[in-house]
This record gives sequence, structure tokens and C-alpha cells, in this order.
Amino acid sequence: MSAEVTTRQRISVTVNGVTHERDVDVRRLLADFLRYDLGLTGTHVGCEQGVCGACTVLLDGEAVRSCITMAVQADGCSITTIEGLAPGPGELHPIQQAFWEHHGLQCGFCTPGFVISAYAFLQDNPRPSRDEIREALSGNLCRCTGYKNIVDAVEAVAEAMAATARTGD
Ligand code: FES
Ligand code: FES
Repeated sequence: MSAEVTTRQRISVTVNGVTHERDVDVRRLLADFLRYDLGLTGTHVGCEQGVCGACTVLLDGEAVRSCITMAVQADGCSITTIEGLAPGPGELHPIQQAFWEHHGLQCGFCTPGFVISAYAFLQDNPRPSRDEIREALSGNLCRCTGYKNIVDAVEAVAEAMAATARTGD
């Protein structure tokens, strides 16, 4: 009698504040789970090798590459995707607003990954230097804009956060 191989596992994940329970193939990538099982197509997949950063999401507050993370690794975790960042429908998160104002995107393919990476970075380092911003975003690739406007956008958000902290607003 051959041993039965388990290929599916039930997982429970909270994505953008909503809990989902699903049976998934143990080889299901988190990126595919988010995009195809939950319909959250804002998480983009570029290189599929953990190199470009387009697929970055927050897993329990840490930026991870969902193309090299298995869905079963997220069992019991809280995930934030780009769809969960804005405060409400029709609104933009301040980082998204800054990308808009500073022309930090063209085709937008890389943008969700940049925004999520910037969000995680600013949580850890709300007063970064420009060089620190460059370093923090160095794992995200953009084929369109060059990086100046993206760094400008993140720098502007950090300055706005610092100003808000100073005035207590
Ligand atoms: S698609 Fe995940 S790092 Fe490129
Ligand atoms: S805006 Fe097109 S890849 Fe970055």
C-alpha cells in the first residue's frame, strides 16, 4: 500500500481586513492565490523569480515577494495588498497620491510593488534620507520612469509625515 501524498491544505488568511478560508494546492504561490483565487489583481507578477519586486505585499506587516512565497506559508497571517492601502473607495493612500503628484509612474506595472515597499520602509524609517530611500527601493525595478520621480514621491511623503508629526495634525 502506497502512502497517500497530501497536495492540498486548508488555509485561513486575512487579506485587507477580510478573512478567507480556502483549500489550496500546497504548491500554490501566494501571488496566484491573491490574483486568481481572491481576484486581487493589483498585485502584479513580473519576473516570477523574486527579482523585480512587482509582486510585493505585506505579510504581517513585512514586505514579501508573493511570487516566491507559498500560499500555505501565509496561513494564519494578515496580508495587505495594494487594494487594501487606500483609506476608502475613490481615495488614495498618501504614498499613492505622491506617486500621482510626482509622476512616479508611467505604465503602472511596477507601481503596486513600489508603493507597498515604500509603505513598509516608511513604517520602519519615517525620517529617511534620500540615499536611504534609494537603498530601500533598490529591490524594485521599473522599466519606464527611471527612478528619480519615484524617489521624489517617497521623499515627499516622508516630509509630509514629518510635518504632520511636528504640528500634531
Ligand atoms: S514577480 Fe515577484 S519579484 Fe518579480
Ligand atoms: S511605471 Fe512602467 S514599469 Fe514602472
